[in-house]
Amino acid sequence: MTNKNIKQKLRSQDWFAPADEKLGFINRSWLRNQGCPDDYFTGRPVIGICNTWSDLTPCNAHLRDFADMVKRGVLEAGGVPFEFPVTSMGETLMRPTAMLFRNLASMDTEESIRANPLDGVVLLTGCDKTTPATVMGACSVDLPTIVVPGGPMLNGRYKDEQIGSGTFVWKIKDKMSNEHFTRKDLAEAEVCSSRSAGHCMTMGTASTMACMVESLGLTLPGAAAIPAVDSRKKLLAQLSGRRIVEMVNEDLKLSKILTRDAFENAIMVNAAIGGSTNFIIHLQAIAGRIGVELTLKDFDEIGSHIPLLVNLMPSGQFLMEDFFYAGGLPAVIKELKDKIHKKSPTVNGNTIWDNNIDAVCYNDKVISSIDKPFQEEAGIAVLYGNLCENGAVIKPSAASQELMVHQGKAVVFESIEDCHARIDDPDLDIDENSVIVLQGVGPVGYPGMAEVGNVSLPAKLLKKGVKDMVRISDGRMSGTAFGTVVLHVSPESAIGGTLALVRTGDIIELDVPNRRLELKISEEELNSRRAKWKASKAHADRGYVKLYINSVQQSHLGADLDFLVGKSGDEVKRHSH
Ligand code: FES
Ligand code: MG
Repeated sequence: MTNKNIKQKLRSQDWFAPADEKLGFINRSWLRNQGCPDDYFTGRPVIGICNTWSDLTPCNAHLRDFADMVKRGVLEAGGVPFEFPVTSMGETLMRPTAMLFRNLASMDTEESIRANPLDGVVLLTGCDKTTPATVMGACSVDLPTIVVPGGPMLNGRYKDEQIGSGTFVWKIKDKMSNEHFTRKDLAEAEVCSSRSAGHCMTMGTASTMACMVESLGLTLPGAAAIPAVDSRKKLLAQLSGRRIVEMVNEDLKLSKILTRDAFENAIMVNAAIGGSTNFIIHLQAIAGRIGVELTLKDFDEIGSHIPLLVNLMPSGQFLMEDFFYAGGLPAVIKELKDKIHKKSPTVNGNTIWDNNIDAVCYNDKVISSIDKPFQEEAGIAVLYGNLCENGAVIKPSAASQELMVHQGKAVVFESIEDCHARIDDPDLDIDENSVIVLQGVGPVGYPGMAEVGNVSLPAKLLKKGVKDMVRISDGRMSGTAFGTVVLHVSPESAIGGTLALVRTGDIIELDVPNRRLELKISEEELNSRRAKWKASKAHADRGYVKLYINSVQQSHLGADLDFLVGKSGDEVKRHSH
């Protein structure tokens, strides 16, 4: 059985029907131990199902089942499916941070795709780093590729309260210091916040990433919001399996979908959904792989005037299950009708506009119309100034309006351990007007740019009822977190950025409307501190971490490894035998 619709010679035929008989024998014979019939090797598109399943990545623990659904779809459409594992990254367990391994997983994905007899790829993703990592790797090969996001968990529910993954975690310290909330209550909440398979069900980074791939055109329409345990998610996996076979026949590669317009659409959609600040770093890294120019300024220029249309935690009130019932991302994209690039192609062969034109909003408390947004301007603001020459970011929709223009005295912590050791010290000289500065948590400094930027407020101020303070660091924060938190300061302190030179008592000025972040000390003083600055010892002298520290780009470029930027296509010149 050969596939009659194929327009070009399949890449896999180079393995399965080579001129050299011995080579063909080797490539087919070992696969036969899985029971593959003759016709698996005679020109049916071979589809790799790239699985980030792992028991240690709880958000992806259900993806084994999904792979079976994808296989069913591939077989129905005349293709041949082979599932393969790649490095998985669970956000909650991995130390020092899952982000350290995003680029490693992207290398694994890239090399696994290129080295094997694949014509098309389905990426099964979930926990937040697994989506950008696999998309980055796939971009560097550029075969026809479709993403199946694993879906959010069902809404968290504790007694009569909706509790959002992550967002609840950031309130624990406050709750336990102020309310009648015991350890027993906390133990119960622990179960209540993870009621089903799936990833964080707030608009954290995983949901943001699922919306990112949908808005880029890399999923079937409506994919992002379907809960992991809803039968429609299985159907999505099956239909994606069918569709990837057609995509191979149409030679619909990633680079045909991932145009500059697609990236601009993703930025607008991310603003409208109140998506995570991590979106910036991941989208830039993906753009770098596929070869589309995208700067930090683009995020502000394209996104910051887009209104907030989605009322989900951490910026709002509801959770992903509510978002799905309210119409999901299609209802948001439809509202952006006067803004998005309507002609951007997507994996199903239709434009983004054709896919979403008939979308309906079923609950305007969750998804608003563009005329009555939850906030007028929602995108991520990019700040510049002597404290962040290459930029820093803040998410205004998750911040306090009264702190958007603020001047205060710095209280500096030189590491997260220093912060943990001193932040609750009753004698610490700090009040609600202080600016908390955290150094050493950037890509090189942590290493891996951990999600520690949303430092907990000092216990004595929480007791007083203080809810928010300005915090500044070269790290990231979880997409589930909130607060007036300036992140991604570049250049980072570990390589001698100005952030490294701040001292307790210095005045810092934050002015979000004017996009400024300044350290108010004289040029002479700054230069003299700079001359005395010395780098700390590197975090590793061997292994992947050494490679990472030596090659990682700064956050304003997407924190990819410098030698991974770009793509080298799918060709492998030499055989293995
Ligand atoms: Fe996996 Fe939040 S911990 S998505
Ligand atoms: Mg996270």
